[in-house]
Amino acid sequence: MHVLSVSSLKGGVGKTTVALGLASAAFSRGLRTLVIDLDTQCDATTGLGAIGEFSETSADVLQSPRHNIVHRAIVSSSWGKNQPGTIDVMVGSPRSQSHDNPYPTLGEVWRLETALAKIEREYDFVIIDTPPSINGLTRTAWVASDRVLIVSEPSLFSVVATDRTIHAVEELRKGLTPRLGVLGILINRFKPTAPENEFRVNEIRERYSDLVLPTLVEERSSLQQATGSARAIHSWPGQNSQEIAAQFDEVLDFALASFATESARRPTRAERKRQRVTRIMRGQSLDQVLALESEEDKTEDDPAKALGL
Ligand SMILES: Nc1ncnc2c1ncn2[C@@H]1O[C@H](COP(=O)(O)OP(=O)(O)OP(=O)(O)O)[C@@H](O)[C@H]1O
Ligand SMILES: [Mg+2]
Repeated sequence: MHVLSVSSLKGGVGKTTVALGLASAAFSRGLRTLVIDLDTQCDATTGLGAIGEFSETSADVLQSPRHNIVHRAIVSSSWGKNQPGTIDVMVGSPRSQSHDNPYPTLGEVWRLETALAKIEREYDFVIIDTPPSINGLTRTAWVASDRVLIVSEPSLFSVVATDRTIHAVEELRKGLTPRLGVLGILINRFKPTAPENEFRVNEIRERYSDLVLPTLVEERSSLQQATGSARAIHSWPGQNSQEIAAQFDEVLDFALASFATESARRPTRAERKRQRVTRIMRGQSLDQVLALESEEDKTEDDPAKALGL
């Protein structure tokens, strides 16, 4: 099972649209796919056609990641009605807001990871749609993830948010979860006919070089129509939607290639040590632990201290 968070610390850049486009690509390729909706607006849940009253939601999973709660919070998407395969959603809830604490404890940010361990064999690909902030919900998503896909628009303001997102992922990776990495930056809402867009894309590529995915997702009305009708872009009619579906296929290929590299890589001893340390510290505040861990890093890097001088 591979887990990918779709994130940006800026609102409205297309996180949910990209999460759903990728889910559509994975489902149409026959991967057993789960979308986890950690955003309190629940747009991903709606886009997957899961509408109604649910006895359990992602908010309950974050409260108590027990086996039966995790299973009850997951429902089938209506996308699966017209095509065989697995496309499920762990439904979102406005009640998740209570887990969006700016100062979460280590135990809190670990809960989704605990929940996913219980369904590890049931899915091939898990996509987490995150809110546009770096509070408890986003950090919980990242702790449970192998990779973070950062969504950016071709605009100046998105660059600032992208810088902050990369920095935040790196902080969490160093202090808590060494397997986490940035998959890359995906530029969304690209308009090939707008010269300003081309200029911004070049600017972003210069700044982040290899981190920018080769595929750009274009701005297309068919994406809005498919999402608004709770349909997968791969099943939406027309040439326009097939072109955008192909762009998401390329993004999926990129993600799967990155996961394949990760499986081949074994954790280093220093990483394993950090994992041991953090497990003992679960009751503490996340920020406290990150500070402690960076102190430890400094000691490890200081040759005089390493020699006990
Ligand atoms: N490539 C695209 N082509 C056309 N419309 C798009 C595209 N990407 C996003 N949109 C539209 O932009 C709006 C915002 O997108 P979306 O809800 O996916 O952003 P978000 O980052 O998830 O927002 P939030 O931060 O509120 O969760 C939506 O109306 C969506 O349909
Ligand atoms: Mg969203």
